Amino acid sequence: MSSLVDKSAERRWPAEGFTRIPYWVYTDQDVFDREMERLFWGASWCFVGLSCEIPNPGDFKRSWVGTRQVVVTRDKDGVANVLENRCAHKGALVCWQDRGTAKDLICPYHQWSYDLKGNLTGVPLKRGALGKGGMPRDFDNSRHGLRKLKVHERGGVIWASYDPDVPDFESYCGPDALHYVDRLFPGRELELLGYSRQIIPCNWKMYFENLKDPYHATLLHAFFITFGLWRADSKSHSSCDGDGRHGVMVSRNEGKKTTGATKEMARFADSLEMNDKDSVTPAPEFADREVAGITLFPSVVLQQQANTLAMRHIIPKGPGQTEISWHFFGYADDTPELRRLRLRHANLMGPSGFVSVDDSEVLAQCQFGASTAGNAAAVLEMGGKETEPQDHMVTEVMIRGFYKFYRKEMGY
Ligand SMILES: [Fe+2]
Repeated sequence: MSSLVDKSAERRWPAEGFTRIPYWVYTDQDVFDREMERLFWGASWCFVGLSCEIPNPGDFKRSWVGTRQVVVTRDKDGVANVLENRCAHKGALVCWQDRGTAKDLICPYHQWSYDLKGNLTGVPLKRGALGKGGMPRDFDNSRHGLRKLKVHERGGVIWASYDPDVPDFESYCGPDALHYVDRLFPGRELELLGYSRQIIPCNWKMYFENLKDPYHATLLHAFFITFGLWRADSKSHSSCDGDGRHGVMVSRNEGKKTTGATKEMARFADSLEMNDKDSVTPAPEFADREVAGITLFPSVVLQQQANTLAMRHIIPKGPGQTEISWHFFGYADDTPELRRLRLRHANLMGPSGFVSVDDSEVLAQCQFGASTAGNAAAVLEMGGKETEPQDHMVTEVMIRGFYKFYRKEMGY
């Protein structure tokens, strides 16, 4: 439930610190507004798209940084630009098309036009008509361009920041997170395989936390447990990076098996078989045999599970609503067989994925719980009360690390 009054004075973080999450962080409009200002539009690098979505000069796509819409362009010099999609004149959306190719961006309202770097290049009737009207002589186009974000393009991914003084991308990630970014994006040419989009009626942090929570995945997801794609008794690694803001969640895929831990996995269904074994059987791909879910604060999850690869773009819409835009991709030099498996395993993911549909449903229930919780708080003690790296997945260490960071950034 949102509130129009500033309740910050009466808010207290529970005395237990980052092993508790007060439910108001998920429900209050002013908390959400502060998150946009401080986290999404602050000193962060936000995912806005893949280079292969705008490969050629003139290509553009629309994207989001928090609740603000941006246009990602490839200019005539081949450079990626990220521009706020808001006309410098009256604030209309300049670009109304999700993807395309153009020489310039022209606002439909009064046809102010901008080049693909965001510079204002044309104002119709600037000198008036019949010697009357028009803009003042001192109107300077160069002072009225689209708002430009700082851009970093690396390994086929485009990142943007509102803060011109943001730390460089590599130090922003930290060594652990950067290793997994580069592992997925080593510079091989990417091929876009498709999109899925969905709105989940939950706070964006709930979605982010869910990908910092290997514990839930060993219990909630019948598909993961049964077919051995993600299990509590697999070799794994859970850690934070970037002062806790990012999460590195890694596991080995060891296939279908029965161990001492199986009896606690209520959704393990030994009798369940797939007629189409391909859907749950990955082909070996990465030398380390790992699967990884990386939460790169604040805007994206890097997903590598079985042979499906995706950037899950997190687009907050309000305290209780989040869009997830799944960008499924492969590498341009994939064999046809591997490409087929990537598409097949994408069925695990997305709005109706065999696995991900469980998350969407559970997170909607969590948001309902938070909205009626008053001053209560969630408990985060699985795997201890610290934020040190752990070599197993029965832990909430990455969520604790995130809230340690979050409280500091938000001033709570
Ligand atoms: Fe999940």
